[in-house]
Amino acid sequence: MVQEVPILACKGVTKQFGSLKAINALDFTVGRGEVLGIGGPNGAGKTTLFDVLSGLSPITAGQVLLQGTDITGAAPDRICQQGLARTFQLNAAFDSLTLRENVQVAARFGRQATLMPGLMLKQDVRDIAEAALEFVGLSPRAHLVAGSAPVIDRKLLMIASALATDPEILLMDEPVGGLTHGETDVIMDCVRRLKTRGITVILIEHVMRFLVGLSDRVIILHHGEKIFEGSPGGLIEDSKVVDVYLGAGASARLRDQLVTVGP
Ligand SMILES: Nc1ncnc2c1ncn2[C@@H]1O[C@H](COP(=O)(O)OP(=O)(O)OP(=O)(O)O)[C@@H](O)[C@H]1O
Ligand SMILES: [Mg+2]
Repeated sequence: MVQEVPILACKGVTKQFGSLKAINALDFTVGRGEVLGIGGPNGAGKTTLFDVLSGLSPITAGQVLLQGTDITGAAPDRICQQGLARTFQLNAAFDSLTLRENVQVAARFGRQATLMPGLMLKQDVRDIAEAALEFVGLSPRAHLVAGSAPVIDRKLLMIASALATDPEILLMDEPVGGLTHGETDVIMDCVRRLKTRGITVILIEHVMRFLVGLSDRVIILHHGEKIFEGSPGGLIEDSKVVDVYLGAGASARLRDQLVTVGP
């Protein structure tokens, strides 16, 4: 049987800040079309992992393969153009541009390298941006200036901008942090539709309803190391995860949710 190349493979990925190993020899793979959830306490190394995978932060040791191609040490723009996009834990946008202009920038520069970037936007770039805005439901508000848009719209903007780069895999860092219950449902619906589109997703989230409800598989990090990898159902029964992260009360609540929502 021919084995499919994982869309992402991390081998011994390590990131050190001085003497602190924020990520310590981490191995995992992500299959095409999968939703992988990553959880863990504050400071576990989740964002650092995304920073290393997306090329924003230089890797200390290890190897990252994107669709079988070694991208270790590649520049962030090249990694994005090769099909890995991300969103950020803290809102990241060009605050003085409108939501539409932000997504147009992503569509213009996130897909292919251009030696002499011009200022004119071709119609295809505009169309790609409109489709991404439409996908996340921002079209009616696309004229708003990003810096003064509501938090939910800024979260949706990061998804639309990532989508406009035509990613194979999308890394989302706390996409519902600070959102209300109803707003969280909007983002949940968005992730489900991304999956339907065939986009592979890695989610970092502390909101366990979100993580457990969407993930096919979950990894829990603690001090830069994997302490759990398995199904969302297995997560809430794992004594180490309950000890260092969830707590008994949250674990019991999640068990109830899993019964009603399903993975
Ligand atoms: N640029 C940096 N320089 C030094 N230490 C850093 C740097 N960035 C992160 N760290 C440290 O690396 C560790 C992992 O941080 P990281 O932000 O990846 O955690 P996290 O799991 O995303 O946490 P949270 O859930 O709070 O977002 C922490 O101890 C943090 O203080
Ligand atoms: Mg973080």
